[in-house]
Amino acid sequence: MLRNTDRSWGAPAKLMHWAVAALVLAQMALGWAAVSWRLSPTKLDLFVWHKSTGMLILALMVVRVAWRSANPPPALPGDMSRLERRAAQASHGTLYLLGFALPISGWIVASAANVPFRLFWLLPVPGIVAPDRALAAVAARMHLALFVALSLLLVVHVAAALRHHFLERDDVLLRMLPRRRGRT
Ligand code: HEM
Ligand code: HEM
Repeated sequence: MLRNTDRSWGAPAKLMHWAVAALVLAQMALGWAAVSWRLSPTKLDLFVWHKSTGMLILALMVVRVAWRSANPPPALPGDMSRLERRAAQASHGTLYLLGFALPISGWIVASAANVPFRLFWLLPVPGIVAPDRALAAVAARMHLALFVALSLLLVVHVAAALRHHFLERDDVLLRMLPRRRGRT
């Protein structure tokens, strides 16, 4: 089943959710490792991995949003209050925003700091801003702040998914899992 229905997510939406989720978690670890590593060839490699994975996440987010715009999400369970619905919509909207803001701010850091890189050592990636040390410093602070915001929101996101499953006992988590179509 490719398209989302009123009750379940289609395969592309599930695949992109879990691919982005796995890549983002790996990306957070890579970012920390790259920043904390002592100056060495390994540190430079970690940065190439980090920047390349980040660009991959950005590309996936573009495809994901395009796909979603043509595929409305399944309806939320009928017994959720207005406040819960608003919270779900707002947090999902913010997760989408952060999925763009993090890679773009990272791309600005790399461009402004004048550290060009090749995507997975293959494709040269153009800068999006001219070299500018002050901008690089501001963008790096933004990148860190966005990372903290994403981490906090993900704690809430995962807690909400577990609450749906174990406390509310609805199919919100199950319908996002592979090969589950939710209640019919
Ligand atoms: C690792 C544990 C995670 C779990 C258990 C989880 C669970 C879920 C579930 C059950 C939904 C479906 C909500 C619904 O049907 O209305 C969902 C939606 C969503 N998740 Fe996750 N998620 C996880 C990680 C992530 C990560 C790391 C990100 C982003 C960086 C993310 C971003 C989103 C977004 C943006 C939506 C909304 C999808 C849409 O409305 O198009 N999730 N998540
Ligand atoms: C979802 C995507 C991304 C996530 C979750 C992420 C996360 C992180 C984390 C956790 C750090 C270490 C903490 C910090 O100093 O900020 C970091 C640093 C960094 N990231 Fe990313 N990043 C992402 C995308 C990118 C992209 C696409 C690029 C470049 C093309 C990039 C370039 C950098 C740079 C240059 C640093 C070092 C900043 C500094 O010197 O303070 N990041 N990132």
